[in-house]
Amino acid sequence: MYKIKKLENGFEYIEVKNDVASAKIAFQGAHIFSYKRSNKEELLWVSSLSAFTLGSAIRGGIPICWPRFGNLDKSLPQHGFARTAVFELVEVIADNNTLTTVHLRLKSSNETKKLWAYAFTLDILFHISNELKIEMITTNNDTKEFLITQAFHAYFKLSDIKNIEIFGLENKPFLDSLVNEEKVQKGSIRINEEVDRIYQKANGKIILQDLEKRLEIQSKHSSSVIVWNPWIKKCSQMSGMEKEGYKSFVCIESANAVDDFVMLGANESFSIEVSYN
Ligand code: BG6
Repeated sequence: MYKIKKLENGFEYIEVKNDVASAKIAFQGAHIFSYKRSNKEELLWVSSLSAFTLGSAIRGGIPICWPRFGNLDKSLPQHGFARTAVFELVEVIADNNTLTTVHLRLKSSNETKKLWAYAFTLDILFHISNELKIEMITTNNDTKEFLITQAFHAYFKLSDIKNIEIFGLENKPFLDSLVNEEKVQKGSIRINEEVDRIYQKANGKIILQDLEKRLEIQSKHSSSVIVWNPWIKKCSQMSGMEKEGYKSFVCIESANAVDDFVMLGANESFSIEVSYN
């Protein structure tokens, strides 16, 4: 079952419910901002100060960063433009009571071509079941090749940042974006300060352990993982962010970032996928 809902300011989202899970997905940005399995807690963190308005990305949920992750390319907005672009609904498929698939699409337009000159189709498919799986499929409809970096910028809701431990990135090289230095991860990750890291060659399973809660993150065709928490000072300066927000989320982002970019020739497609369970 699904419903299209509209806020007073015109901001639209789709609400999905089946026998095992429910979700809310905004048309702006193909941005999922709630996912709950029946009788389980919310998976995603959203700031109580987040705007739900066209033109500014929701602070929380899973922003889609595309066609760039980060701000290395100064010709594009940080994390690209997809997160503030309005997607169209292609279809909702509910084959049974335990799986609902929502397919959203963004196609190049005169607006996107002002920012990025290429013809493209970006398809995002949300598979809502007792796991959450998301696919991001880029198709080059142009005659020239183009380069993309991309991310599922997931904000996970925590009991408290001090309770968590992240496994699966042990011994991986990473770029510490705070000091722009290459380092290597020793052991599992605990967070007690600002962290902004781009792990490379990280295509295995990642575990987010939060007290007795365990989340498994598995991605396909992407080998960068960003771990981010703004901590006290940066948190108090960010748009749409609660002052103490850093205590209740961590971002673990499945991505193709920095050198791990994708080149797509004319008529080629490339798909990445992530699942959370
Ligand atoms: C992370 C980056 O992915 O996103 C951080 O690694 C950045 O450097 C954060 O601060 C939030 O970005 P934004 O554009 O949503 O404020």
